Order: sequence, then structure tokens, then C-alpha cells
Amino acid sequence: MSANGGADDSPKRSAALAAAELITDGMQLGLGTGSTVAHLLEAIATRGLQVAGLPTSNATAAACQQLGIELLRPEEVERLDLAIDGADELDAQLTATKGGGGALLREKVVASMAERFVLIATTDKVVDLLGDSFPLPVEVVPFAVAPVTGWLQDRGYVVSRRSEDGGGAVVTDNGNHLLDARMPGGIEDAAVEDLWLAQLPGVVTSGLFVDMAERAFLADADGQVQEHTPRG
Ligand code: A5P
Repeated sequence: MSANGGADDSPKRSAALAAAELITDGMQLGLGTGSTVAHLLEAIATRGLQVAGLPTSNATAAACQQLGIELLRPEEVERLDLAIDGADELDAQLTATKGGGGALLREKVVASMAERFVLIATTDKVVDLLGDSFPLPVEVVPFAVAPVTGWLQDRGYVVSRRSEDGGGAVVTDNGNHLLDARMPGGIEDAAVEDLWLAQLPGVVTSGLFVDMAERAFLADADGQVQEHTPRG
């Protein structure tokens, strides 16, 4: 996971650097996954912050090891001071869609363990309704992929199974498969949808993060960052 995501990567860096200001020595952090978080990890290392982090993916763990950021093991930590992560889409309530990089399950566990969960993203990811322009990732145990696909289709989703370039199914860090479910027109009520998805047998979790983020640092194309809290 590299922070050098290309010439247009500087807004992501701006958002990450704004969130890095929340980090102080001694914190136990939740560390997200993705190209925006890669800038955060670099900032932690460059600033020599004395923190320990619980990574949300094998990719983030590897990046931390490379940068010399101390890692926590999941079995030795119950609570985190702060978790910071990217998003694929978010709305005005800071409900987010995550899992474009396939790390949604550990991301959701880590966000739930944190006193404070903060999103970092670019303003082009803000939408009125989630799930239309960016399909909702759903992590499913391999045995249940076919029935879950059918139940999602019955609900109105357009579903595809996430595949590697060679055609084989993507396997998550947890050994599961991923369905990408697009809801034409968007998801009307993310809280209701989150509960509906959670009760489907075989669904491990969905990429909907409802009522979790306390703030978001959003950078526009010029790298100007604004801090947002959920709109009531
Ligand atoms: C990883 O599975 C995702 O949830 C990422 O947090 C999300 O895709 C944001 O990634 P970028 O920061 O690379 O846009």
C-alpha cells in the first residue's frame, strides 16, 4: 500500500494530514486501509509519533511494518482511542460505504472498538444517496454466495461477484468472498438496509457504516480541507 497514488493524490494527502493532527503520543489507534490512509501512515512515521496501531488489513499491517509503526495484535486490545479510515462514498450524515479495497470487515470491527472514528476522503466521494454510483460491498461466506446473490437481486440490487483479473473470486483477509451490489437510484434508508443485510444468513458484514463516524476531513480538488460532523 503506497502513498504515491499519482499526480492527483495530493487532496487525499491533505485530508490525511488534517486528521493526523488528532493523533498524540501514547494513543492506541485503529488504522484503516487504502490510498488515503497510506498518507496517514507516512505522516505518523515521519512525525515520529509514539503510537501503536491495530491494522484493518494485511496490506496496512505490511505498510506499518515497513514504516516502523508499532502494531497491536487483535487478541490483546479491546478499545482504541481513535480510528481513522478512508471511504468510498459518504453522505451528509457521514454514513459511509467502505470495502472498495476489500477490507470492510476488519475496518468495521476496528471502527467499532474506537472511542472516536474519523473519516478521511475527497469531496468527490460525497453523495446524496449511497450505493448507486459506487456499489455496496457485501462480505459473504463462500458457501452462501449463490443464495445471498439471489436475495440481493430480489431486493432490487444489481449484483456482481468480485473477481481477480484471472477470473477467480477475490478472497478477503478473512477467507470470504465479496459481492458488489448496486442499488439503482441509491439506498433510501441506510440504517434499515444495514439491518436487513445483517440478518441474511451467510452475510458476514456489509460496507455500510451507519452512525459510526464522529467527523470527516474532506479535501477538495485544490487540497482545501473542511472538517464535517454528521448533519442532524
Ligand atoms: C478498503 O476496503 C476501503 O474501505 C477503503 O477505506 C476505501 O476504499 C477508501 O480507499 P481510498 O482511500 O484508496 O480511496
